[in-house]
Amino acid sequence: CGITARVGRGDAVDELLTGLENLEYRGYDSAGVAVRNGHGLSVHKREGKIDRLKDRIERSPPSGSMGIGHTRWSTHGPPTDENAHPHTDCTEEIAVVHNGIIENHEALKADLRERGHRFESDTDTEVIPHLLEEHVDRGLALDIAFRRMATQLQGSYAIAAMTADGDAVYATRQGSPLVLGIDEDCHYLASDVPAFLEFTDRVVYLEDGDVVSITEDGYEIVDADGRPLDREVRTVDWVAEDAEKGRYDHYMRKEISEQPTALAQTVEGRIDDTDDSGRQIDSGNDSDGNVADGSGDINAGSNGANSEKNNPEGVSLEACPPGTFTDVSAIQFVACGTSYHAALYGQQLLARRGVAAQTFRAGEYAMAPAPVDDDTLVIGVTQSGETADTLESLRRAAERGARTLALTNVVGSTAARECDDAMFIRAGPEIGVAATKTFSSQVATLALLAERIAGDVADAGGEDDQLLAELSTLPDAVQRVLDETRAMEVVDRYRGMDSYFFIGRGVAHPVACEGALKFKEITYEHAEGFAAGQLKHGPLALVTPNTPVFAVFTGRHTEKTLSNVREVQARGAPVIAVVSETNHEVIDTADATLTIPDAHPDIAAVLANVQLQLVAYHVADHLDRPIDKPRNLAKSVTVE
Ligand code: G6P
Repeated sequence: CGITARVGRGDAVDELLTGLENLEYRGYDSAGVAVRNGHGLSVHKREGKIDRLKDRIERSPPSGSMGIGHTRWSTHGPPTDENAHPHTDCTEEIAVVHNGIIENHEALKADLRERGHRFESDTDTEVIPHLLEEHVDRGLALDIAFRRMATQLQGSYAIAAMTADGDAVYATRQGSPLVLGIDEDCHYLASDVPAFLEFTDRVVYLEDGDVVSITEDGYEIVDADGRPLDREVRTVDWVAEDAEKGRYDHYMRKEISEQPTALAQTVEGRIDDTDDSGRQIDSGNDSDGNVADGSGDINAGSNGANSEKNNPEGVSLEACPPGTFTDVSAIQFVACGTSYHAALYGQQLLARRGVAAQTFRAGEYAMAPAPVDDDTLVIGVTQSGETADTLESLRRAAERGARTLALTNVVGSTAARECDDAMFIRAGPEIGVAATKTFSSQVATLALLAERIAGDVADAGGEDDQLLAELSTLPDAVQRVLDETRAMEVVDRYRGMDSYFFIGRGVAHPVACEGALKFKEITYEHAEGFAAGQLKHGPLALVTPNTPVFAVFTGRHTEKTLSNVREVQARGAPVIAVVSETNHEVIDTADATLTIPDAHPDIAAVLANVQLQLVAYHVADHLDRPIDKPRNLAKSVTVE
């Protein structure tokens, strides 16, 4: 879900709706706003996308200079008008928006019912305005009532509340993101910076337990006991256009095209190619140690959007002094979704360098963590830095003594702040729900990290100069894929089949899984990714002439994967090979090909992945799917 609030000179409604549209990637099954209109609160909410809310509002536009808004991704109760936020108390004088889950809402609701409160929705959120109402009725000022209410809640949340007669919006966070935006005569609150980036670039990243109030003239941040807190104001150094669609039909298409730039930012300053003896990861002589280390020493920005563009010597491998990983005896990755596939890729890069690592789905790890000790490095791979399962896994690992590292795109994110260290992938803002450029940047960052870790913990020999050189030229190679792709043609030939399978070996396996994930989430067609060798242990039973198989080749294990290709062809399935343009054996065997430039096997799969992103995109576009906002999904899942 995404929340937003605005108090200031001028009318709030347009700015609130703009904020919600900019946050729609966080959830879009219902939306609403509440505005203080001089007589009371005017609350408008509606099931469906924000456009439907706008239609409703246009019929009887509310007006007022202070308001809150919400775009919802359902957790408690289906997407209906009643379950949409804002929620109000019995008197309809208090309105609340909330992102997260109130775990003790049932007990709170039962108590409130006994005391005469009536509820209109199935949501956990609705207890909040009723709790506030009780405190206000007892005579507490709203600021005290708000802090008292927060002590009654268990779970993870970001909450904003306003009343019909107050001049401030109050908000707090516990485990869900909340950012304050500061303009001269206007103040904003939101789940993420893009909500108000068009209006201001001055931000404060709030921390768990902070209680903030905003008015037209200012803001105040206090702790749970009302003691004032000083939080740094940062300037986000990117412009609103970074987070806009521009000339593209979809954010996803724009973000696929941005991969060369994103990758150039990812590796910038991290590979020293000035040394005559060959390229090497910069040893960090001029490091300023600018790593997010949990001490608040972080760079400004959100959604990775600042990308340290003006901070080339910012967070990088340079900032990991040599020897940083010498004490590490075990490595565990925790991640979800696309980031999980990037983590699997990283695991293989480490394995090839003689370093053992394990990769866990964060939702599982959080429930049943693997054993760790002081020498275990747990790496959370998370684009947003806010995925609840990943955060919980990192917290569980830290509690039990492990060292934690966030590999993330978002400089001010919870993962970056809570982990012992952070490495930023610098991909720039990603709005499309289906992750694309962040996967490529995650893998490039993991390749650099794997080189460094291997140098420190294993007797793995020298750095892989060819790999480092090719990481520097990866942006150009990706551009060639984008320029020459035949994805649309291939898609035309194989549309409308029963299922789509994706296979690969080594690093091509996570890419096969990622290709299938992308395909299913935006086309709604059935797709699965398999380790190529696993086919004959079950999935082959599903293979028919109506199940095209995408086979990913990296230049390693070619003969083995070719055998699997022949096995599926023998069952009538057409095979589309994603393969180097010089590999004629594979090209001649396959029924169709999507070629990639010749590349180091460790990164060839990144190029193959770009082809698969385009395949998924073109199929979804042909089927007229809502590519940027696939049904039931959200970009940032801040609930477990
Ligand atoms: C959701 C998104 C995916 C994303 C995953 C992990 O499922 O829809 O695109 O890969 O969360 O997100 P993270 O921000 O942790 O990388």
